Amino acid sequence: MSQPAWTHGVRIAGTGSCLPSRTLTNADFEKLVDTTDEWIFQRTGIRQRQVCNPETEGCFTLSRDALSRALEMAGMKGSDLDLVIVATVSGEMPCPSTACRVAAAIGATPAPAFDLQAACSGFVYAVNVAEALIRSGRFRSVGVVGCDIMSSIVDYTDRTVSILFGDAAGSVVLVRDDNPARGCLYQAMGADGSGWNALYLPKRMQEVPPDDVNNPIRLGYLRMNGKEVFRFAVTKFREVIEDALRNTGLTPETVSQVVCHQSNIRIIDAAREKIGIPAEKVYVNIDRCGNSSSGSVGLCFDELNRAGKIKSGDAVVLVAFGGGLTWASSVWRI
Ligand code: UT7
Repeated sequence: MSQPAWTHGVRIAGTGSCLPSRTLTNADFEKLVDTTDEWIFQRTGIRQRQVCNPETEGCFTLSRDALSRALEMAGMKGSDLDLVIVATVSGEMPCPSTACRVAAAIGATPAPAFDLQAACSGFVYAVNVAEALIRSGRFRSVGVVGCDIMSSIVDYTDRTVSILFGDAAGSVVLVRDDNPARGCLYQAMGADGSGWNALYLPKRMQEVPPDDVNNPIRLGYLRMNGKEVFRFAVTKFREVIEDALRNTGLTPETVSQVVCHQSNIRIIDAAREKIGIPAEKVYVNIDRCGNSSSGSVGLCFDELNRAGKIKSGDAVVLVAFGGGLTWASSVWRI
């Protein structure tokens, strides 16, 4: 892909994440619905997930804390940011955005702040938008958060959906860098709204598609056609990673890490094995944290970074797919 001659690059100055306080194990689910630890682990790779105490935790607090930790690592203050983006589909309120409250809480006011919605692809979408805004020269430092409180939107009587999800926030602080070779080498984002009904959250019966109306529906909770999403994910995930490698000239040998949305271990392993990327280059925490939608990629990135596994000069691929349907990749030279 031909790139303009950049005058500056983009650096990840800090990363942060936040997991809520409560642990929900597969054994806990055995008490809630007709399921077993064995079924959940074999089909998804999940053993447990963290969920919020709704009295004290939520999208606002997790997003705020993840971004505060990223700022602390960067040695920056909230007032150093000139934009805050929160990717989420589960903010406490549609208005104001979670980003506005987070920006105020960390002292970033009057920096602009907005939420971005792309379901599980949200964090990678937000990183791509932020990186492009810094490359353009209009912004110098952007706080990006991906956060979802899936426990607030899943129906805990529906075993086909609830067992998959957990809550989490992940964050990066992106800043302008003098080295133009540093930053996002390639990004791809896509959406296919014709597949919207594979993963949707209906508020009115009018929106429930004909093939779902006869099922037990609880308005306000996530509906998922697991098989449909699985089929889409297995193909798309592989295509998106292959596209990212092809367009950057990277190979399974030269790529340092693929940080991917934690959807289901079978989806991750299928793509990884087909492309031939060694297991140690694809970080997995789904066993501990489940699928946290917009939270997962930022959370994984922060855990890797804090473990010393993201180094200057590394080539790192972020990749996600999810409701919309949406998908995104972001290839970084760290
Ligand atoms: O972040 C993006 C969003 N989502 C995803 O990436 C999810 C993608 N999909 C999946 O991960 C998988 O489709 C699931 C894990 C959700 C389900 O696994 P599956 O292998 O596709 O199971 P299935 O839907 O084909 O169900 C097989 C059986 C069914 O019973 P019958 O019809 O064969 O008698 C289900 O009713 O398993 C039953 N089942 C369960 N049994 C025990 C469904 N959920 C459960 C459960 N425990 N929790």
